[in-house]
Amino acid sequence: MRPLGPIATTVLHRRYLKRDSQGAVVETPDELFHRVAANLAEAEAQFGGDVDATEAQFYRLMRSLDFLPNSPTLMNAGTDLQQLAACFVLPIEDSLESIFTAVKQTALIHQSGGGTGFSFSNLRPRGDVVMKSGGVASGPVSFMKVFDSTTEQIKQGGRRRGANMGVLDVSHPDIEEFITAKREEGVLRNFNLSVATDETFWEALESGTAYNLVNPRTGAVVRQEDPEVILGLIAAAAWESGDPGMLFLDRINEDNPVPTLGRIEATNPCGEVPELPYEACILGSVNLGQHAERGEVDWEKLRETVHLGIRLLDDALEMSSFPIPEIETMVRKTRRLGLGVMGFHDMLVDVGIPYDSDEAVEFASDLMEFVHDEAWVASKQLADERGPFPAWVESTHENPVRNATTTAIAPTGTISLIANCSSSIEPIYNVAYTKHVLEGLEIRNERFVDRAKERGFYSPELLQRIHDRTSIQDVPEIPDDVKQLFQTAHDVPAEQHLRIQAAFQEHVDNAVSKTVNVPQSASVEDIEDIFHSARRYGLKGMTVFRSGARAEQVLGDSPLK
Ligand code: CDP
Repeated sequence: MRPLGPIATTVLHRRYLKRDSQGAVVETPDELFHRVAANLAEAEAQFGGDVDATEAQFYRLMRSLDFLPNSPTLMNAGTDLQQLAACFVLPIEDSLESIFTAVKQTALIHQSGGGTGFSFSNLRPRGDVVMKSGGVASGPVSFMKVFDSTTEQIKQGGRRRGANMGVLDVSHPDIEEFITAKREEGVLRNFNLSVATDETFWEALESGTAYNLVNPRTGAVVRQEDPEVILGLIAAAAWESGDPGMLFLDRINEDNPVPTLGRIEATNPCGEVPELPYEACILGSVNLGQHAERGEVDWEKLRETVHLGIRLLDDALEMSSFPIPEIETMVRKTRRLGLGVMGFHDMLVDVGIPYDSDEAVEFASDLMEFVHDEAWVASKQLADERGPFPAWVESTHENPVRNATTTAIAPTGTISLIANCSSSIEPIYNVAYTKHVLEGLEIRNERFVDRAKERGFYSPELLQRIHDRTSIQDVPEIPDDVKQLFQTAHDVPAEQHLRIQAAFQEHVDNAVSKTVNVPQSASVEDIEDIFHSARRYGLKGMTVFRSGARAEQVLGDSPLK
């Protein structure tokens, strides 16, 4: 197998390799993949599977970089922590007891490498009465700051800082304070924010009528707001700082696989997994750039990777231990998995389709339909061997399957660095750049360099010139067809970002974590339009990021910082 590149080696050394009590690294990258494979394959013993053969398959799958599970699995499998999931949602009820229980649970989850999402919608608004003390309530935003500082103090498994998603319903009386909470620099820096909207809000918006803001403690209507004004406020805040994003709760709950367990109100930190309180999800991503040969998708290889990937994730679920008993119970009930993809742009380059084209949208849809169908075939096979997930009887699934969900598109912020591929389904950010934290290591898109050499326009001077640039569209000697293949996030219009996200969402059980990039010159109204389009496209949630806006997005937390 090919040696791992310098980026993978550096990232693994800094954050992933096992250390002794003195903090010294005690394994090699190869040993890491063996540790994880051996640990996950142990699950096979319970179901009469072949442990050794599966271990060898899992090792090859990961070491070849064809597929990687989420960071907590790579860090913790076969160690004392043994917590393998990246995505959690915790409940918050309207009592100090519940709030501070959740603070403690957040600390435990972050310590074990997971990220947490919460709906704060049940908390009584600021200024409301507090019976016990005869005082006034602080409101959701004030309590979110308690969670934020808890996160600040706890590094995940000692390796990275945790991430949170704070959700507030658009009908909560404190919604304006929530929307503008991150305008002040440094506030809630470990939170991504999302406003939860439902069809009541959108219908009021469309018909130009006011909607109700309701005190969740009493159920009383506190006042009415113009939905247009609230959307404008959301768009203005997103224009400035990238926060808040938006969730479409009705759309999310249309796909809730077990509605009898409750209505979903929140997602994990980057939005790809809508979950009930105490649910957790283990993610894994197929490296698409390794699934094309001579300009064609290698469908057979992709099928095998997806099948083995689902098996690996289901085994990981079996082997994972969770820091809170309620989570253990929920996870065993629904067995939620999130298999997704990374290196989508790499694959587009390999098959010769520009990111900004109708063909790319069609290709994305066909590709994800295949991945999704095969993921379900695999989950069905596992159900035959191991039994369906326990809540299956009350679920929306007609046939027995092993998992309530199988697919999600994660940002792959770190694992795409290990795999040296374009992240998730995003367009590349630049063609050649320097990661200063990597001792000034220069990172180049190998596919671009290969093409430049093949087509005879390669020169070290050209690479110098495009270094750290967020677009190569105005470089004269690069042929147009090559320019088209290497469009960056910056070149791709907002509408196309949305169309690609929608094409994937159509074939994903959970959700798609994606940033819709807009140019610096975009107006607040442009951002309002994007929110409207996102709803029309049937997205479950989304984030807009304006070039040059204050970048404090938690999902941007680089593992190399
Ligand atoms: O690439 P990696 O597996 O490290 O993670 P990702 O795909 O960028 O993020 C997947 C999920 O991991 C996020 O949605 C969060 O739930 C969690 N995460 C976290 O808790 N803390 C971070 N610093 C980054 C991600």
